[in-house]
Amino acid sequence: MTEHILVEKAEKLLVLTLNRPEKKNALTRAMYKTLATEIANADTDPEVRCILIMANGDMFTAGNDLADFAAVGAAASAPKPEDGNPLLPALARSRTPIVAAVNGRAVGIGTTMLLHCDMVFVANDASLITPFVNLALVPEAASSLLMPLRIGHVRAFEMFVLGEPVRAEQAVSWGIANRAVPPADLHRIARTTAIAIAARAPAAVVLTKSLMRDEQMLLARMSEEGAHFGRQLKTAEFKEAFTAFAERRAPDFSKFG
Ligand code: COA
Repeated sequence: MTEHILVEKAEKLLVLTLNRPEKKNALTRAMYKTLATEIANADTDPEVRCILIMANGDMFTAGNDLADFAAVGAAASAPKPEDGNPLLPALARSRTPIVAAVNGRAVGIGTTMLLHCDMVFVANDASLITPFVNLALVPEAASSLLMPLRIGHVRAFEMFVLGEPVRAEQAVSWGIANRAVPPADLHRIARTTAIAIAARAPAAVVLTKSLMRDEQMLLARMSEEGAHFGRQLKTAEFKEAFTAFAERRAPDFSKFG
């Protein structure tokens, strides 16, 4: 448990609120662990028929905590499978429908987790950014599979490799989000929708979700991505990208390769 994730149960919903606004809701290992445990437990909790993920503060999340990435990169040994992010398999295995409400920016896993959500609402001033290659990393959360399937190869490549932000209306027209709504209405609309899902025939909802997804394929891709990701964290090009972020300058990759 961490105070950086608020957990609320009411009206057959599990509401998970990212609550580390002073660090732009950057996600730490403790936050992933709480999210993963809550999402997994929801499947067997008769009081939960839908999960709502939202955030406090001025953005959804700045993605993985970069200090945590750097710590893995600096460790003497290679990352072990148990060092992997527990949220990823939890999302792949989840049977409970998930609704997301995205305010402000959603960076990295903040965007890739949306590909595992069943309905997504974005504030109309929100933007989605996946700057994996800017950080000398590779896409995760099976997004290397799901993103091109969802939006097409060329758009996905641009998002991953150039790290260009995708605005709310674009995210809707590309099929990453259901609707863009006024920021002041975002949480209310997402919650009302989650309550409507929770009121539907529960077995039919769970079956429908599971028929629409291939858990084994997602887990296999996550594991493949994770192996590359772990190796990239050990590279000099990642060190340069991380140092550049800390020094608030653009990275210089000209000396690599
Ligand atoms: N990990 C750890 N800390 C982070 C963070 C991250 N991913 N993103 C932001 N923070 C911290 C900043 O270091 C800063 O901490 P400080 O106040 O102690 O110095 C605080 O959150 C506020 O961030 P700041 O950069 O000042 O806010 P901003 O509104 O100017 O910019 C972002 C917001 C998201 C554009 C910018 O913080 C950013 O690019 N973050 C990194 C995003 C990223 O690359 N994530 C990994 C994706 S794979």
